Amino acid sequence: MAEELIISTGDKEQRYQELLPQIQGLLSGEDDVIANMANMVAALKMTFNWLWVGFYIVRGEQLVLGPFQGPIACTRINKGKGVCGSAWQSSEIQLVPDVDQFPGHIACSSLSKSEIVLPLYDAAGKVFAVLDVDSETLNQFDEIDAKYLAQIIKLIS
Ligand code: SME
Repeated sequence: MAEELIISTGDKEQRYQELLPQIQGLLSGEDDVIANMANMVAALKMTFNWLWVGFYIVRGEQLVLGPFQGPIACTRINKGKGVCGSAWQSSEIQLVPDVDQFPGHIACSSLSKSEIVLPLYDAAGKVFAVLDVDSETLNQFDEIDAKYLAQIIKLIS
């Protein structure tokens, strides 16, 4: 695995394009899901310095906090609750430009203003985890984030 992360000085899309192969390298040869999730969120945090980036993992009827970078967070989220629980229930990406406008949003940190959550699917197409990214800025995330984050999390599935 690579020992150093090279962070592009380009725009957001260039950052993702240069990050993707590096994450591939970082994960190659390691098949432990938790270890790979941990390095993935570290690489994302180093590249974009978002407020919070981490995984919640499906455990029975709840999501349980997994590897993350950022402030301490809620440990358990019920199916259908908050942005993460909605991504799990709907199996769809949730792009939230303003968390105050999302009914049932769970405020783990009052600093969080916008959010994107992407489901991870197992081989049978079932959601087994979600990636949650939070920003202190309104409207932080768009279709570019959705597109590249979806490609990045596929490296775990
Ligand atoms: N805001 C999320 C909860 C997780 S924290 O933001 C880390 C939600 O509404 O599901």
